[in-house]
Amino acid sequence: MALDTGTGELDAKAAKILQKNDRGGFTIPTARLYPFQWNWDSVFIAIGLDTFDRERAWVELESLVEGQAEDGMIPHIIFRQDDSDYFPGPAVWQTSKSPISASGISQPPVLASVVLRFANEQGDAGLRRAEAMFDSILKWHRWWHNERTPDGCGVVCTVHPWETGRDNCPDWQIGLNNMQTDPELEPYKRKDIEHADPSQRPSMDEYDKYITIVKFGRDHGWNQKVLTNDGPFLMADPGIFFILLRADRDLLDLAQRLGRHDVVDEISGWITAAEVAADYFWNDKIGAYCARDVRSGVFSNGFSNASALNFYAGVGTPEQRSQTLGHMRRIAAKTKFGQSSWDPDMPSFESQRYWCGPIWCQMNFMIAQGLAEQGEGEMAAKMRDDLGALITQSGFYECFDPVTGDGCIGTDFSWTAALWLAWASPSLPRSSAA
Ligand code: DGY
Repeated sequence: MALDTGTGELDAKAAKILQKNDRGGFTIPTARLYPFQWNWDSVFIAIGLDTFDRERAWVELESLVEGQAEDGMIPHIIFRQDDSDYFPGPAVWQTSKSPISASGISQPPVLASVVLRFANEQGDAGLRRAEAMFDSILKWHRWWHNERTPDGCGVVCTVHPWETGRDNCPDWQIGLNNMQTDPELEPYKRKDIEHADPSQRPSMDEYDKYITIVKFGRDHGWNQKVLTNDGPFLMADPGIFFILLRADRDLLDLAQRLGRHDVVDEISGWITAAEVAADYFWNDKIGAYCARDVRSGVFSNGFSNASALNFYAGVGTPEQRSQTLGHMRRIAAKTKFGQSSWDPDMPSFESQRYWCGPIWCQMNFMIAQGLAEQGEGEMAAKMRDDLGALITQSGFYECFDPVTGDGCIGTDFSWTAALWLAWASPSLPRSSAA
């Protein structure tokens, strides 16, 4: 049943959620299920905070950078302290390279793009704030290009489904099937299924593999080169790849505006190489950008929401773009709301299980931004309006069933509240979809 709430009331509720999830300089995604600071969550949260508290928005980004490891990685979770509501906490990760207790992998690098957005919107004060973060972001991008590019492979890859942010997307089954659960894995108790419906969360087998990869990283002192080259799991993710390419372009823009001529060639080199490497993801069999297992070369055969991020990265021939739009239209005809995280024509599609189907607002925000920039404004506006309708119907959930619009998993979710405030709320000007 639709929530009987007006736009103004939803605006106020969204701001309240962000305030309620504020833990003093950083914001948790939702209570109990995710009780720490998550990397890309914080960046999208900052966009929402900026609509009513600009200073607090910058503090959100700066607190994330405080967790940067000595090798340049900005971790996917910054723990600060333990919390018995979450598994696996700091005692399982056992990292030692960050100044604050943190996980040992990263998450999609959206930070540079949001820092550029703020710098563009906020004049000299924003640019000065961006300048203070520039070297940390550059160091993080270097980490991606150096530590996550396997030997003999020209593409930035990933070592863990959690690093992609798209945790249990069926894309990762190829890599997970190619690895064994460590027989010496200590018994553990999942906490996520105490806080959320287990039928909407990853399977036990997937968790065993997730923790096996963490154990490998821990056993190898979080040596990232070893984890990348010799770890149990190595796949290439169009999500990370396209988001990093976009972030590199935005970092270059920032470097030029800041007069950082010393790094322009380095960043331009990453962009040129990625533009060429993008075809590594092009799966001719289905005509789409897909995830790929690096060691076997095997492609995933489903169209995910990450497959639609090529517009955001500014990548694709006219034919590749047209085929991508064709998939999006095919999927839109099967679902009431777009863009589902997984292909409804695949047998592994599940409309309420985490990344096996549900709609994710932060993905839609990036997809729509890319579509609007590349002349597909109508499609972008529909994605924005769909999110508005989903939130109005069901509330500020973590993700949404693309068929029924039901809310799934976490409630009072921070990035959903943030993107309502900055993007989907009908009280915003309707001139642009992004
Ligand atoms: C979780 O705990 O499900 C998180 O997505 C890991 O990052």
